[in-house]
Amino acid sequence: MNQSKLFSEFKLKNTTFRNRIVLSPMCQYKAVNGYVEDWHFQHYSRFAFSGLGGAFIEATGISPEGRITHGCTGIWEDGQIEGLKKITEVFKKYRCVSGIQLAHAGRKASFLRPWDGAKPIEKNDGFEKKWQTIGPSAIPVNENSPTPIEMTNDDIEKVKNDFKNAARRSLEAGFDILEIHGAHGYLLHSFFSPISNKREDKYGGNLENRMRFGLEIVRNIREVWSSEKPLFYRISSVDGAENGSSFEENIVYAKELKKAGVDIIDCSSGGIGGSPVLMKSKIVPGFQVPFAERIKKEANIDTMAVGAIIDFNQAEDIIVKDRANLVAIGRELLADTQWVYKAASFFDLPNAKDFLPESYSFYLSRRDEYLDRQAKPY
Ligand SMILES: Cc1cc2nc3c(=O)[nH]c(=O)nc-3n(C[C@H](O)[C@H](O)[C@H](O)COP(=O)(O)O)c2cc1C
Repeated sequence: MNQSKLFSEFKLKNTTFRNRIVLSPMCQYKAVNGYVEDWHFQHYSRFAFSGLGGAFIEATGISPEGRITHGCTGIWEDGQIEGLKKITEVFKKYRCVSGIQLAHAGRKASFLRPWDGAKPIEKNDGFEKKWQTIGPSAIPVNENSPTPIEMTNDDIEKVKNDFKNAARRSLEAGFDILEIHGAHGYLLHSFFSPISNKREDKYGGNLENRMRFGLEIVRNIREVWSSEKPLFYRISSVDGAENGSSFEENIVYAKELKKAGVDIIDCSSGGIGGSPVLMKSKIVPGFQVPFAERIKKEANIDTMAVGAIIDFNQAEDIIVKDRANLVAIGRELLADTQWVYKAASFFDLPNAKDFLPESYSFYLSRRDEYLDRQAKPY
């Protein structure tokens, strides 16, 4: 009998995750004009047949200027649906819940790809043009970053519409779940944080005003994203910077997000810039799990834990202790796409090989028959 809670099903609205393990969204920086390429198909296919409960496609720009880099995926025009659809079809085929993360990079847009320097694009970077960034206030992330233009009401309405249209396209592309990127200092987070938001209108100042933009986007998205389909929202649970938004503010935010139509909070942290407090401390495995645990209990909403979740027992423990409903894994899955199969074997699941495609599992089962033992990867 399956004793592992990590491998128990999780049902959220009309969606059933076959286990609690989810691929965290991770930018690939390989798109061309926002369009997915062969790379994306190959990369995401590997995860589609790796036994995961669910998988998120990377932060995908709701507009060209909402991308972090020229290599980011986009969903601002209908032509971009087809390539994404090809990816969701693979996920469906292998029973992996498919998700997309919708994003606007705000004042952290117009950057070079990580391997090109991960710094703002300069006028003379030659092969690619920089673009004007936007934000709640004309405050750059740091002295080396470009100053964003303070968004007008028209700009705010445009971004809200862009998110809504992107959600409609995500539905057409066949995604089962959708995540709004409200973390890491990008546009939505920059409205929430008092470090980057100094507005004096209804979008700035007190907490109610700083939550407004994110909540309006959620409500807008809910108008087109089926009420039967789960909606995730990634927050930075703490800014980790002086005068930033507090964890307590995020608990209030999580409660409001739930009322607005969010089903699950994906609990990350940091990224807003300013003078780092928390980030000075060394990151330890599971360092953000306490955020997921407290938000789950104190805001009474389902959560996904993320951040240096590496070991099988560590992941199991999070679910057993009900510290989160799902665990999102990023880099460890890049290192080992068969993590789920290995975890299932580690926990002695009789059906561990079901987490591999048939054309792999068949031969491993046959090998087991020849060997005088159950051949386990762990
Ligand atoms: C290459 C790479 C790309 C990432 N891209 C995104 C992204 O598109 N959206 C996002 O919210 N987080 C992104 N992240 C953060 C991850 O989703 C995850 O939260 C972080 O890596 C911590 O989890 P891990 O320790 O399991 O990798 C990225 C991380 C990496 C390493």
